[in-house]
Amino acid sequence: MSHAHPPPSPTRRTHHAPRLPALALGLLALAAAGCEPADAPSDAGVRHTPLPFSPTDATRAYCGDADDDAIEGQITALLVELTLEGKIGMMHGAAGAVVDGVWLVDGVPGLGIPGLHLRDGPRGVSAFSGARATAFPVGALRGATFDPELEARVGAAIAREARSAGADVLLAPTMNILRHPRWGRAQETYSEDVHHLGTMAVAFIEGVQSEGVIASAKHFAANSIEDSRHSVDVRIDERTLREVYLPHFRRAVVEGRVGSVMTAYNRVNGLYCDLQGHLVHEILEQEWGFSGFVESDWYLGTHGAADSVLAGLDLEMPASSRFRRLEAEVRSGGLSEDAIDDSVRRILRAQLCHGLDRHSPVRDASVRESPAHLALAREVARRGIVLLRNEGAALPFGADVRRIALLGRNARAESIGDSGSSAVRPTDVVTALEGLQARAGVQVDEVERLDAAGEALVRAADAVVVVTGLGPDDEGEGDIGAGDRETLALPEGEVALIRTVAALNPRVVVVVEAGSAVLTSAFEDDVEGLLFAFYPGAQGGHAIADLLFGDTSPSGRLPFSIPESEADLPPFDSRADVVEYGFFHGYRHLAHEGRRPRHAFGEGLSYTRFTHADLVLAPPEADPDGVVEATLSVENVGRVRGTETVQLYVSALGSRVVRAPSDLRAFAQVTLEPGERRAVTMRVEVADLAFWNDARRAFEVERLDYEVRVGAHAGDPGQTARFRVR
Ligand code: BGC
Repeated sequence: MSHAHPPPSPTRRTHHAPRLPALALGLLALAAAGCEPADAPSDAGVRHTPLPFSPTDATRAYCGDADDDAIEGQITALLVELTLEGKIGMMHGAAGAVVDGVWLVDGVPGLGIPGLHLRDGPRGVSAFSGARATAFPVGALRGATFDPELEARVGAAIAREARSAGADVLLAPTMNILRHPRWGRAQETYSEDVHHLGTMAVAFIEGVQSEGVIASAKHFAANSIEDSRHSVDVRIDERTLREVYLPHFRRAVVEGRVGSVMTAYNRVNGLYCDLQGHLVHEILEQEWGFSGFVESDWYLGTHGAADSVLAGLDLEMPASSRFRRLEAEVRSGGLSEDAIDDSVRRILRAQLCHGLDRHSPVRDASVRESPAHLALAREVARRGIVLLRNEGAALPFGADVRRIALLGRNARAESIGDSGSSAVRPTDVVTALEGLQARAGVQVDEVERLDAAGEALVRAADAVVVVTGLGPDDEGEGDIGAGDRETLALPEGEVALIRTVAALNPRVVVVVEAGSAVLTSAFEDDVEGLLFAFYPGAQGGHAIADLLFGDTSPSGRLPFSIPESEADLPPFDSRADVVEYGFFHGYRHLAHEGRRPRHAFGEGLSYTRFTHADLVLAPPEADPDGVVEATLSVENVGRVRGTETVQLYVSALGSRVVRAPSDLRAFAQVTLEPGERRAVTMRVEVADLAFWNDARRAFEVERLDYEVRVGAHAGDPGQTARFRVR
């Protein structure tokens, strides 16, 4: 069966004249009094009469609880009032630099339109104008929580802080697929997996927008290289685009009702994203019904004027450069004023549906870094840090650990992420050293050199902690950060350091801080414990100590695979002008190639053990638009309370197209006391199992048997069961 999509449609915006609701007509008539007739030329001083507009299902959904009829009518009235110049003035940023910490887009104060006040970003309020704010753990760590409710709380907290810093649009989430771990901005996004990424991004968006702040899903699309981000042409076939690079953005629109979308800098199949009518106008707007505004990425993200507008770009940021030509293009007949109206309507709809006219942000520094927000940052870090190795019960440290030798390049590092646009400046950062020092009754010997004295400290310690990994000089955003990584290996000297201390002390725990995978094969077998801490944010040092000492059992699960070697991954060339994005990356690639990762996607240990049993699928046969529920029982068979994440992977058996061996289609989390057992149910939407049929230009669910595998990670044989799509 196939899900019909609209037939091939023009990649350019066209304008129809739908029915006009009574309220809008009334407002229109009021506002239009004294105006020129509908077909008046767009000369200076002569107002253009907007096309009538009625709300659609998509615009209604976008507006949520707001009175969309009234709002669309109000917009129509405003379009009547506004001059061409006034409208274009709302389609670009007002200044090339931040004003009082925010990027501005003009409104029309006299007509009750507040304009937009935009600010980064994905891990907290940006450092602009010296604002201090809570540095939450980076997106990769938050992905590792596998906990959308927690992520919604983070979104809401960042939004409250953003409002308190004058913003009503948050430039987040970064929700590009983590295609390769050398990508400099890997830390900002949640995952290499499309289902997991979509779930976490939707949660964040809902959290942000629940506080009256507009979220921006970025960067649309296929943006996952920094060094060549302004020029690289990502070549990608339609099926890969539809199944791997777009579904999470669709969910941001359809489920998250995201207020705005930011185009990416890169090209896709030869066209810059702001000129990509197929991606923006056809898919985002027409197919998915996105009804908010599309903004460019900053400074070099707009490549056309009329062409960009017709492709679907509404807002050039942060100032008018290309869009300076728009007025002349309309006056010369190169672009219809209706196209301008369409963009302005989207920009106004976002402001009015999100109530920016009713509650403007109130600056209040006391909202930022509040005790509740700092506690949340610590809770999230505890929940996301992943335990990857624990030999001989080296962890948690008990009463027998009174003296710790601490080493490694990140022991004193403020591990809050890169120096790009997502940078946040907190008042205080708890480093790993400070987190350990804060433990009562524990002596921390910092070992700076492994000379005779240093070796003696390592030997004498009850346990050794090596905090290593990367920082802002190693990976980050292009231009304003370090860009893409050169290698997946740890920085020079760190592996040798780990191996040396491992020969001196039998209880060595390594803590790796990085935005995504770092190769661990060269040292892992020599040490007893391994924690992957990402960039754990301003409270990260406390969270690391909390986990090392077992205040809580680790529950983080890797949101990416850690390969044995970089050769196991698809190629990554951050300087190429043209790159091919194939259908496989991450765990799907490793499984397809038959390569075992060092650590699988979804993997993570805890201080207890869980068993899974009695997997049942219902119903055993489903329709292509149906739902199959998988239920199993999960038991905590260890000695401490813990949180388990069960993951559901699906394989299409005998598909007629190339598929990944299996794909994550659902996950669920349960916290259990020792000895406690509970049933967990997950839903699989059968439509999510569809492949993109290029010939039909539609998704198609194959009538086949599907195998469901539920386990603790992508490589876990787990339990299996089958259902049939009839
Ligand atoms: C980044 C965006 C960011 C924008 C504004 C750009 O360089 O790619 O993610 O939101 O700057 O700071």
